[in-house]
Amino acid sequence: MFPLTARSSNPLRGSVQVPGDKSISHRALMVGALAVGETVVNGLLEGEDVLRTAAALRMLGAEVERAADGAWHIWGRGVGGLSEPDDVLDMGNAGTAARLLMGVLASHPMNAVLSGDASLRRRPMARVAGPLHEMGAEIAGRAGCRLPLLVRGTGDAMPIHYRLPVPSAQVKSAILLAGLNAPGTTTVVEPVPTRDHTELMLRHFGAQVQVESDTHGRAISLIGQPELAGRAIRVPADPSSAAFPLVAALIVPGSQVRLRGVGLNPHRIGLLTTLEEMGAHIRIENRRVEAGEPVGDLAVAAGCLRGVQVPAARAPSMIDEYPILAVAAAVAEGPTAMRGLAELRVKESDRLAAVARGLAACGVDVEESEDSLTVRGTGARPRGGASIESALDHRIAMSFLVLGLVAERPVTIDDGSPIETSFPGFAALMGELGAEMTGDDPSRAPDG
Ligand code: S3P
Repeated sequence: MFPLTARSSNPLRGSVQVPGDKSISHRALMVGALAVGETVVNGLLEGEDVLRTAAALRMLGAEVERAADGAWHIWGRGVGGLSEPDDVLDMGNAGTAARLLMGVLASHPMNAVLSGDASLRRRPMARVAGPLHEMGAEIAGRAGCRLPLLVRGTGDAMPIHYRLPVPSAQVKSAILLAGLNAPGTTTVVEPVPTRDHTELMLRHFGAQVQVESDTHGRAISLIGQPELAGRAIRVPADPSSAAFPLVAALIVPGSQVRLRGVGLNPHRIGLLTTLEEMGAHIRIENRRVEAGEPVGDLAVAAGCLRGVQVPAARAPSMIDEYPILAVAAAVAEGPTAMRGLAELRVKESDRLAAVARGLAACGVDVEESEDSLTVRGTGARPRGGASIESALDHRIAMSFLVLGLVAERPVTIDDGSPIETSFPGFAALMGELGAEMTGDDPSRAPDG
């Protein structure tokens, strides 16, 4: 555990690039491990979550190496070609890695046990186990289908047609990855579109993936048992990580910040839409496409924000951004109501409760219901002066540090180590922009 403290800061200035996209990094490694030949990934997120994926894939027989120039090289084993691990796959804090790997394992004829930290062991896995069971895999977890769990995969997987009961890119992706080694067509129907990185990545490696949208939703169909060929991939900067310096620049008066090379996948930019509705000045420049993903630079200037209503339908495109949006809302003038947030209760922590508790401790007027949050900002600086529990949740930790940059009194988080899962170097990058964030150096933190 190492505490970090953020204090009222002078205007933030500068141009930075946040680390690579977590969702795309997991997928690049996994699909690379299922391809034939070499995959080279530039800009891979070297956060703890993604390093867990790399380690698990090595245990499953893929070669995964980091070269001195920072590029990652994967020599895959082909679809269905992974081998049984000789120990437990420890996924740490990484929910995406655990769920997507469950899909990969489901259509391999072998046994594998997945475990993780206290946060991951609390998270529900039945949503993934259900459809994978229909495909022929056996999955046995603790009560409520929680980790540690055993996946008994099958070499004879059945393609399925599955309608997602919850909008979840992780569940969709697990099914598609399992469908890679099933003969015939696997189809996932999502009532509300979620991030489509798996579809884009599979296509990039040569799989046939079709997408059809109508009033019932979006149907994604994959033809099984393709020959995937190793590819080159450039991972864009993670928009969910960019969200922290972005909101910081909007709310610290006088700030002007440029965020370079940020992923702008249309299923990930709900926060930008919301902030613009709140009156934020965000210019997107230098738009381009890299490895099938739209990318651009964000030029951000501080200004007054006003409260808005955030519709439930927007939740999938900004599901990880509600904690930092709530911080922007705390500084805005007027109430911001966010609806359709039930999924926030099953993230790395119960984020609805953690945000409501933390904001209240910082003197912000906030109201929580089962699936909504209303933050009543006054346009004035929040009081701050609180110590917030990170609760093994990187996004809670970073959100409250950003709040500390505008609060009247410093905000401390009890443990900065979860930030390493998705945004290594967060405090240093914020410091480069002029943010007052101090604490122990994570590399010198004692074990445990
Ligand atoms: C992710 C999907 C989302 C998101 C998570 C990453 C992914 O989760 O919250 O951080 O990479 O597919 P759900 O699929 O549970 O909505």
